[in-house]
Amino acid sequence: MKTLISTVPFGEIDPEPVELLRKNGVDFLINPIGRKLKEMELAELLSDFEILIAGTEPVTARVMDSAPRLKLISRVGVGLDSVDLAAARERGVRVSYTPEAPAPAVAELAVGLMLNALRFVSQADRGLREGSWKRYMGRRLSECTVGVIGAGRIGKRVIDHLAGFKPRILVNDVAPDVGFLNARNVEITDKDAIYREADVITLHVPHTPDTDGLIDGSVLARLKAGAVLINTARGPIVKEQDLINALKQGALSAAAIDVYDEEPYMGELARLDNAILTCHMGSCSTDCRGKMEIEATKEALRLIHGEPLQSEVPESEYPVHGVKS
Ligand code: 8YV
Repeated sequence: MKTLISTVPFGEIDPEPVELLRKNGVDFLINPIGRKLKEMELAELLSDFEILIAGTEPVTARVMDSAPRLKLISRVGVGLDSVDLAAARERGVRVSYTPEAPAPAVAELAVGLMLNALRFVSQADRGLREGSWKRYMGRRLSECTVGVIGAGRIGKRVIDHLAGFKPRILVNDVAPDVGFLNARNVEITDKDAIYREADVITLHVPHTPDTDGLIDGSVLARLKAGAVLINTARGPIVKEQDLINALKQGALSAAAIDVYDEEPYMGELARLDNAILTCHMGSCSTDCRGKMEIEATKEALRLIHGEPLQSEVPESEYPVHGVKS
């Protein structure tokens, strides 16, 4: 089965996925453009492939229609908002993902960004390079209340990492794992309490119809003075223009953002000193990236060999992503 690998990088961190494809005699092509593909670029490339090993490029109904032989979308990563799950289902295309693999790296980046934002690391770095010596007065995590929105695979790890800093932790989740959270002595609460009381808010929810635009102007306007927002989840969960306005007005002390509506990002946030920006690299540690690529490749090989898939997207994810049964 012809396999297109659209995600980048691939096989660079760890050669194993490419070696696996070769060893199994798979006819494959790695994204020749070398960056995240746009919808029509993917549609053109995919036309006669049966398997797509995908990053976060849009795998829409149009893309699937351009590839009538497509049988499997194997996502390198956990997020499913880039795949039109309803269209896949209608066309009999199976979808797999690697839900556990990225979590450790994303959780660590989120905590790193909290420390950065609270201690003005990026601002001091930029200032020094421009000849200024400004010793910023920051806050320690243990003096802060941290609000964790979404306590799944990633949010739970963030909570565990924070334990050593001993902040007060407020948690909101649509289906909280009460046993886990009670054992960590955190407060399970609603989003409004987090908006009202948290000094640091970190987002660990998927991007779905329910979370689209969750953090908008009305939320940003009622955050605690000096609050810091961390988004390592998905760009559209935060309304970008509202965030820009809030950062300009000082409604937020800082925002640390890894994910954007449009990627690569080239927008106005890059001109704001209190925005700390990284390049959708939450999962980019060598171990996690390697695992994601290997797992997604092995799933493709299972389909090729007629074996049962092991990490097919579960039925429960379909309605969450707006697919009607
Ligand atoms: C990307 C992610 O998939 O897990 C996810 O959903 O956002 C990332 O891990 C990955 O960077 C795409 O190459």
